[in-house]
Amino acid sequence: MNKIQVTLNREKGKISRYIYGQFAEHLGRCIYEGVWVGADSEIPNVNGIRQDVVEALKAIKVPVIRWPGGCFADEYHWKDGIGPTEERATIVNTHWGGVTENNHFGTHEFFELCRQVGAEAYINGNVGSGTVQEMQEWVEYMTMDGISPMSKLRRENGQDEPWKVRFFGVGNESWGCGGNMRPEYYADLYRRYQTYVRQYTKEPLYKIACGPNIDDYNWMDVLMKNAAPFMDGISLHHYALASVWEDKRPALGFPEKEWFSLIDSALKMDELITRHSTIMDKYDPDKRVGLIVDEWGSWLAVEPGTNPGFLYQQNTIRDAMIASLTLNIFHKHAERVQMANIAQMVNVLQAMILTEGAEMIKTPTYHVFDLYKNHQDATLVDADGAVSGTTSYTVSKKDGVMTASFCNYSLTDAETVMLSLVDGAVGEVTAEGVFGSKMDDHNSFENPEAVAKQAFTDFSVDGNEVTITLPPMSVVSVYAKEN
Ligand code: AHR
Repeated sequence: MNKIQVTLNREKGKISRYIYGQFAEHLGRCIYEGVWVGADSEIPNVNGIRQDVVEALKAIKVPVIRWPGGCFADEYHWKDGIGPTEERATIVNTHWGGVTENNHFGTHEFFELCRQVGAEAYINGNVGSGTVQEMQEWVEYMTMDGISPMSKLRRENGQDEPWKVRFFGVGNESWGCGGNMRPEYYADLYRRYQTYVRQYTKEPLYKIACGPNIDDYNWMDVLMKNAAPFMDGISLHHYALASVWEDKRPALGFPEKEWFSLIDSALKMDELITRHSTIMDKYDPDKRVGLIVDEWGSWLAVEPGTNPGFLYQQNTIRDAMIASLTLNIFHKHAERVQMANIAQMVNVLQAMILTEGAEMIKTPTYHVFDLYKNHQDATLVDADGAVSGTTSYTVSKKDGVMTASFCNYSLTDAETVMLSLVDGAVGEVTAEGVFGSKMDDHNSFENPEAVAKQAFTDFSVDGNEVTITLPPMSVVSVYAKEN
């Protein structure tokens, strides 16, 4: 029996809702088809944005969306994507399949998506192939309320009021697709570019520097040493891979060893955050600068027969495990991790949603985000215990409800966990979960509800103790009202 002692009044910080952020890049069918169908489409839409996808995203309370990339961001010239739709520049999306990008989804359409979903905006600017002036003008275009050349242009394009840009990224993967730079060079470029990311509004713009790839600790050290005072956050990218050789392994029909290798790769996030945070502590002991994990998730082989440049992969109960245990890691590091953005929102990598024409399905990962939404902006509480090697958990409280979420990624064994409240009385208890019976259980367009959130009753309450039996391959959230 696993025992966890919960001390509700011993608070361990706030879990930022931004940890539940999404990433939407101009890649494959994420934006086009997945989000944007155009106002003339037969697929039900509001102002060109498909309604089924918006409704699904609203239901999981998406707090923030990162856009337009990714690698695409460092080739994106925002002026291509404004003005009358039919007159916009047609370009080639060189990173992602060499397909035509007609720029029908641009700045105005992105803010319309945010408005419909109820999410805030995280814009990623172009350092790799863009100029300082271009970046400065984009910020002016989006956020300037007064009279200026860019606010005039925005008004001519039909948007009177400025939009709210909460987060702004200065370059993406500048060590790779964003320019192949060395950290010393990028640190200076960051200092220069961010100078012109002007603050036109009262609400502060949160500036994010491009941080390291996975375990590039030198990059983190050089950036923090040379540019920490000029940033609010620094990014980290880490994808879970099922093979150490980095060839992409199948999302379905994989062998048992790849269940565990993918999970091991995801678990590495804990070590990465710990070690990067230790470096950040040297230069920022007060933890002012946030670690922003703005790309994470499983990266598997594309579905057979699909464009290799589109990164379209299926999503199984194994991905539900990855989502749950990674969110648990972010919660644990809530003091440093101020935002995270899973890659990517629709039809790409570890997606929430898959679409095919007018049809849409929610993935097992979607259902974990749904299960976990009580943790958004909740207070992490002290929950101390030794649990089995395949169990990961979070306990938080918000509005008089304690939410305890668990992942049991054993393929064969149920795990019994006893939650013992030291300083609170347990009131009404309910639970729900996401369950698998084989490793690659997933939803398809033929069977869209094979893996879905279900009520869960395998728990008992005795005084201040709640005992839960977690089936193998399960994610469970238990909600206990405080008495
Ligand atoms: O998410 C796919 C790609 O992965 C992003 O464009 C890039 O930033 C990363 O390498």
